[in-house]
Amino acid sequence: MSRGRTVDALPGLDDKPRVIEEMFDRIAPRYDALNRLLTFRMDVRWRREAVQLLELPPAALVLDLACGTGDLCRTLADSGLRAVGADFSAGMLRAAHTDAPLVRADAMHLPFADATFDGITCGFALRNFAALAPVLTECGRVLRSGGRVALIDVAEPSSPLVRFGHGLWFRHAVPFVGGIVSDRAAYRYLPASTAYLPPVPELLALVVDAGIVDVSRRALGFGAVQLITGTRA
Ligand SMILES: C[S@@+](CC[C@H](N)C(=O)[O-])C[C@H]1O[C@@H](n2cnc3c(N)ncnc32)[C@H](O)[C@@H]1O
Repeated sequence: MSRGRTVDALPGLDDKPRVIEEMFDRIAPRYDALNRLLTFRMDVRWRREAVQLLELPPAALVLDLACGTGDLCRTLADSGLRAVGADFSAGMLRAAHTDAPLVRADAMHLPFADATFDGITCGFALRNFAALAPVLTECGRVLRSGGRVALIDVAEPSSPLVRFGHGLWFRHAVPFVGGIVSDRAAYRYLPASTAYLPPVPELLALVVDAGIVDVSRRALGFGAVQLITGTRA
């Protein structure tokens, strides 16, 4: 999954699950507040847009994969959908504010039967998985035919000017503010972990390989965020 760029703050793939789980356990108590602060609350709108693009009927059952503190679970519930959250960080699940049932589980091995869900959301977690293909395969397995996915993660803005300004914010201000309010190493990792994401065509191909069709990608937040949607074949 890595593009081969080396970034000091990034763990090796063997250590990644343990390091990531411990990191999210550590930053869980202030995670929500920092998200709002560091995105100027735009993250709320991005999650809402992801849920709208699922285009699922009321009461549809949606897995929020790597749910963290349950922000997307709440957005799903506000839209009349039934959410189930899954995450491997006990700390994030403990800090969650949602009425949705939450399951402690590794995205690589989901404890759900085939074709259980009408939809899957996944917010800002793709770059945290040790490998994307097995996670997307699991998504394809637990999603019913015709079910929908909406995956959000960070991206590199395409405009050079925006990329420059965003780089200053994401790679300097985020670790600085995150370090003061929460944990410096974690908020150095979060921007650096963009390096784990494959280039867009490769990422979309992985989604297609998992049995998802009609895949489309839109840029949000001036290109700093990507939202990928699709339908289970
Ligand atoms: C950046 S947080 C995103 C949380 C939430 N989805 C949101 O939108 O705020 C990434 C989450 O992915 C979870 N995660 C990373 N790897 C995972 C894995 N293999 N299985 C389950 N959860 C995982 C972490 O514990 C963390 O809660």
